Amino acid sequence: MNILVIGSGGREHAICQKLSESPLAGHIYCAPGNGGIAEVAELVPINEMDIASLVSFAREHRIDATIVGPEAPLSAGIADAFQNAGLRVFGPSQNAARIESSKAFAKELMQKYNIPTADYRVFSQYEEALQYIKEKGAPIVIKADGLAAGKGVTVAMTIEEAQAALQAALLEQKFGEASAQVVVEEFLEGEEFSLMAFVHGETVCPMVIARDHKRAYDGDKGPNTGGMGAYSPVPQIPQDEVEQAVSEILIPAAKALKKEGTPFTGVLYAGLIRTRAGVKVIEFNARFGDPETQVVLSRLKTDLLQIILDLLDGKKPEITWTDEAVLGVVIASEGYPGTYQKGVQLPPLNELESFVFHSGTRLENGRLVSNGGRVLFIGRKSSSLECARDSLYKELASCTFEGFFYRKDIGSRKKEDAVR
Ligand code: AMP
Ligand code: GLY
Repeated sequence: MNILVIGSGGREHAICQKLSESPLAGHIYCAPGNGGIAEVAELVPINEMDIASLVSFAREHRIDATIVGPEAPLSAGIADAFQNAGLRVFGPSQNAARIESSKAFAKELMQKYNIPTADYRVFSQYEEALQYIKEKGAPIVIKADGLAAGKGVTVAMTIEEAQAALQAALLEQKFGEASAQVVVEEFLEGEEFSLMAFVHGETVCPMVIARDHKRAYDGDKGPNTGGMGAYSPVPQIPQDEVEQAVSEILIPAAKALKKEGTPFTGVLYAGLIRTRAGVKVIEFNARFGDPETQVVLSRLKTDLLQIILDLLDGKKPEITWTDEAVLGVVIASEGYPGTYQKGVQLPPLNELESFVFHSGTRLENGRLVSNGGRVLFIGRKSSSLECARDSLYKELASCTFEGFFYRKDIGSRKKEDAVR
């Protein structure tokens, strides 16, 4: 089978790697891909947002199935375009992807179908929003309604901070159209975790859970990023609560989307928080998480392509996972998530015992150089999280990453730290 993967990050590298292990996979293409993906797939120089060219490519190269990584092409309707062209695609329609591309839509859906989440209000007028945050008091959370590359959320610890976030979003249009509306939300406290599932209509096949680390620096300090490291399993979260989240959050969400006339196909991602009042939704995404995918797919024993084909054929696949633990760290460009340089040479990676997925790299005259903020994801699989973490950090300490930085504390929270 000819397969096309769309995207260019560590997530897509992990997806391509897994697909390349499938006996069903013939030729794997990735558009546009990156320097590491080139080792497991043929790169196609078409931008992920150039939907018309991607459809033509898929037709010309007789692509049997397309898997979409990032949210931007999904919310621009790539899955609809492929389907209209008679091409098989694993990813939600533009309408179903609203569960990620409009936070107001996601909140309304949750409210209507009793899916547990923080209390909220939606505003497009600054004065009204300001009055509301003054009534509610801090801490309070302000979210741009639309896609803002993970940067549209402000967890405000004071009213002044909340006011500044409202001002930036509603008066200065910091995120353009994406912040024409804001969701103002109750602040929740607890352990966060990510629960993803393969979904087709009402068929929901959950994956193992993972934890992401969104802040740039050690000790959860510094600005929010796309994610600086991840691990799976997450010992702080009891298994019965995960099962409850599947039955009270993921399955109702898939059913709700179907009932609303926009059935979901693809990966449904729930960003969850374990509060004293139970597990609640922080956000939904309409795709695989990055960097969660890099650790979760590393624990997948079943053939990924078979899972996707079964789902698209209306069957419920059997999925098995290894009990082993996986933990990985993002190597980022110095300055990220602010401004940073590209084209910085990377150290040799083929000697590493740990596994490497590329996020922002490219080949320049045969040399591997950085091409983004998040550059590499280096991970380790082991019998326990502690072993994975210790052996990974030991190996990283022996490398020189000049012009880059990484967090030294991924996965170092203890089970006893969990909120009860
Ligand atoms: P999001 O982009 O929606 O995942 O939000 C980014 C981060 O902001 C989350 O991972 C949380 O750490 C934090 N956050 C979002 N919503 C809330 C909330 N209601 N209460 C506390 N923290 C939140
Ligand atoms: N790791 C969070 C996300 O993919 O949105």
